[in-house]
Amino acid sequence: MYQTKIAGLGKYVPENVVTNDDLSKKMDTNDEWITERTGIKERRHIKKGDGNTTATMGVKAAKIAIERSGISKDDIDLIVFATLSPDYYFPGCGVQVQEMLEIDTCPALDVRNQCSGFVYAISVADQFIKTGMYENILVIGSENHSGGLDFTTRGRSVSVIFGDGAGAAVLTRSDHNGQGIFSTHLHSEGKHALELSLKGPSTNHWVPEIIAENPQGDDIPYYPYMNGQFVFKNAIQRFSEVINEGLKENGLEVADIDMLIPHQANLRISQFVQQKFKLKDDQVYNNIQRYGNTTAASIPIALTEAWEEGKVKEGDVVVLAAFGSGFTWGSVILKW
Ligand code: COA
Repeated sequence: MYQTKIAGLGKYVPENVVTNDDLSKKMDTNDEWITERTGIKERRHIKKGDGNTTATMGVKAAKIAIERSGISKDDIDLIVFATLSPDYYFPGCGVQVQEMLEIDTCPALDVRNQCSGFVYAISVADQFIKTGMYENILVIGSENHSGGLDFTTRGRSVSVIFGDGAGAAVLTRSDHNGQGIFSTHLHSEGKHALELSLKGPSTNHWVPEIIAENPQGDDIPYYPYMNGQFVFKNAIQRFSEVINEGLKENGLEVADIDMLIPHQANLRISQFVQQKFKLKDDQVYNNIQRYGNTTAASIPIALTEAWEEGKVKEGDVVVLAAFGSGFTWGSVILKW
């Protein structure tokens, strides 16, 4: 068995900054409520005409990751793209990236695991590298949330949380024994699928049906629905479980964690996890204050920034952990 390491990281966020005050001009909300409940101060939104889509943002992040990895784009054996907001219903964004990066035909697949998407995508890539089937894999998490949120007061409990952006990592076969991904841990619990979901349009709930069912436009299934408090309770439980699972599998203690990069769901969730594990501030990385929750992009954006700021260094034990719609959750334990 081979071992996988992260050889390069990159991120891209749209230039357009949307503050809490900006949102309060569109809906009944305010900076105090958003800051207190979520920690978010601002997020980035694609602006019509700026050329950004889920796929193009993913490509921008990927180009940086590829350059930093020192690996030629032509040596990429597989593209794994995680998103809940693809450019098209089908095909997936992975094939768009293959085209935009001008990579000769290569396999490309999309992962549909929402906030856990990047952790799932890393795990998928890790299996291919471990077994020796592929050597270099491009993993991308990218989201265009702003194109599909309800920015009226009706949608405020969801729309203030999410932001747009992309992050990418090039995974490759590690030549140093002991450096790289130790293990990945994945879970799902589909009985809660609709607690955080976007129900339509879908093949069993198509547009004319939606319009016929909602003549007043009250219950609109083409905007995301989130049972916030239920999600919150499940998130703090599952984050803790899956971090512990990863540590136990590798014979590690909490004190061995140099950096925890939690999916940036909500600052209060990260703080709860930090307190539960008694981690110091410099052992947990958060940037939700600046980007909001960017779902599949949040971990690669945070990991990229942590690395750029010198907070993830060679030899560090890094833990990635995520929870989200599905419900799905997972963790990655690695040595940088
Ligand atoms: N601005 C102002 N008021 C708002 C608001 C907003 N953006 N959104 C909701 N409110 C109001 C509600 O209408 C409600 O008013 P009421 O008491 O008059 O009925 C009040 O604030 C409390 O709403 P509630 O939904 O109970 O708040 P909360 O404390 O549960 O916080 C979340 C809401 C969404 C921030 C919180 O539940 C949460 O963070 N959940 C987890 C979300 C998450 O992490 N999702 C991603 C998973 S990966």
